[in-house]
Amino acid sequence: MIRDVQWNDMQDLVNNYYSYYGEMENEYPDMGLIFYHSRPEFVSEIDWFSTFFRDIQAGNAIGVVAEEDGKVIGLCDVHRKRPDSDVSHIGILGIAIRKEFRDKGLGRQMMEAIIERCRGKFDMIVLDVFSNNQQAISLYKKLGFIEYAHLPRGTKRGNKFYDEISMYYDL
Ligand SMILES: CC(C)(COP(=O)(O)OP(=O)(O)OC[C@H]1O[C@@H](n2cnc3c(N)ncnc32)[C@H](O)[C@@H]1OP(=O)(O)O)[C@@H](O)C(=O)NCCC(=O)NCCS
Repeated sequence: MIRDVQWNDMQDLVNNYYSYYGEMENEYPDMGLIFYHSRPEFVSEIDWFSTFFRDIQAGNAIGVVAEEDGKVIGLCDVHRKRPDSDVSHIGILGIAIRKEFRDKGLGRQMMEAIIERCRGKFDMIVLDVFSNNQQAISLYKKLGFIEYAHLPRGTKRGNKFYDEISMYYDL
């Protein structure tokens, strides 16, 4: 089921987020998410979620989740770029799904749902993606995102660099 994020989703979302750290550390070192150098404490996650919820209430963020068997297993979010400024017509998108639930079409469904919710609230959605993240890039292109920039070595993880591609979607 694809639905709007709710206040009581916090624990599942934090568990998911921590699972991405485990995945990056143990099996997928090139995983295309931006990680802090150390896993944030639970208390920082509470701050993150509270801020996210306040931003949703203020009309500055949208969150869509995928739920399977009563558990939230993926999040797609859009945050307004600098509210009350000359760039606040732009929303910045992020998406991640737990490993066991990828390649089943949930990413596409969450993206389609959030794009619809962004209409009338933003004029444009932007995102950054590692250039080696072919699945994500192919999904974004199929949905109509257009590449507008390529930043060589845009991310540095340990001693390894990753190029970043920036894409936009006109709403
Ligand atoms: C990227 C991600 C959100 C995509 O979600 P998903 O549910 O796995 O993707 P879907 O099952 O909806 O598939 C999306 C499309 O990619 C295609 N695809 C799958 N694997 C692919 C590959 N290796 N190369 C190219 N395309 C691929 C699928 O065929 C599908 O296309 P379709 O809708 O026309 O059939 C998910 O894989 C994920 O969370 N990855 C880890 C975190 C991440 O990389 N986030 C993105 C950061 S920018």
